[in-house]
Amino acid sequence: MKKYIVGVVGASGAVGEEIFRVLEECEFPIERVVPLASERSVGKEIAFKGEKHKILQTTDEVFAQEGVEIAFFSAGGKVSEQYAPSAAKAGALVIDNTSHFRMDNDVPLVVPEVNPEDIEKWQKRGIIANPNCSTIQMVHILAPLHKAFGIKRVDVSTYQAASGAGKRGMEELVMQMQAFFAFKLDESEPEVFPHRLALNVIPHIDVFMPNDYTKEEMKMINETHKIMHASFPVSATCVRVPILRSHSESISIAFEGEIDVKKVREILSQAPSVVLYDEPARKRYPMPSFVSETDQTYVGRIRRDNFDKHILHLWCVADQIRVGAATNAVRIAQKWIEMQD
Ligand code: A2P
Repeated sequence: MKKYIVGVVGASGAVGEEIFRVLEECEFPIERVVPLASERSVGKEIAFKGEKHKILQTTDEVFAQEGVEIAFFSAGGKVSEQYAPSAAKAGALVIDNTSHFRMDNDVPLVVPEVNPEDIEKWQKRGIIANPNCSTIQMVHILAPLHKAFGIKRVDVSTYQAASGAGKRGMEELVMQMQAFFAFKLDESEPEVFPHRLALNVIPHIDVFMPNDYTKEEMKMINETHKIMHASFPVSATCVRVPILRSHSESISIAFEGEIDVKKVREILSQAPSVVLYDEPARKRYPMPSFVSETDQTYVGRIRRDNFDKHILHLWCVADQIRVGAATNAVRIAQKWIEMQD
């Protein structure tokens, strides 16, 4: 089996570190890893399969110099904008975790359990985009239900962890919590989040758009349509909560016909990368406390609306750094490799 030279841009970041962990766990066919970050990290090391690897500076030339064949990008949109074209030009398959290329017509946006067929379009630009974290876990649930029952409309509210804002976001929350437990709640200006996150919830992720939705909410709407090749109405309210890791979502789905909850459970129990965890009487429902560091989207609290038999409500939780970023990106690469054979 062919082995690949794999670059990770953002190797010192939360998602970059997780990509190395996932690559190691799934025994990805690797010839050599090339960790890349900013000038600040040059000389630092990352561990992969028991060996240390020096971080190199991301430049236009480094991809060709190092012979990178698959390049994961998780260093923010600006870095992807600047360097992903050079990586693709050097012949690497780029899998981009940022939003920069996601809505470009000639760049596929892929969740391998939902639209693996779109991977083929990678050839146009050499780039495959990894969707927004909240979108990935939602389409894991929506896709099998849409196929079975036909979705008419989706309304989602998210409860998003600090990890969605990277390491700095997690650190800011930890510092605020520490200050609280030391009885000195820090009211200094937060740097990462728009307000203090500790002991708070913030209905504001990314910037506000002219239509009063946030950019995060519009990503969930537009990306769901692109991935599912569908155009049913979707509305989202994205909320940051003081959780370190794993996003939760409350989703209400209106279907074409009346909904049979037993059938829904049956379908979701067989859906790829989904774990049905729905025994409320035994206090069993998905929560970030045990879903973190797993590779599945957990779903529970499944119930039919009290007033309308076409409407279903459910709750899902997934580890944003893995399911919503690193694992999905690695699964894309694995599918792409399968398609090269
Ligand atoms: P560095 O540590 O050298 O700043 P997170 O999302 O957890 O905040 O991580 C962001 C990642 O993006 C880090 O690995 C960071 O590297 C990397 N990064 C930030 N700016 C650049 C840049 N200009 N070029 C390459 N990598 C960058």
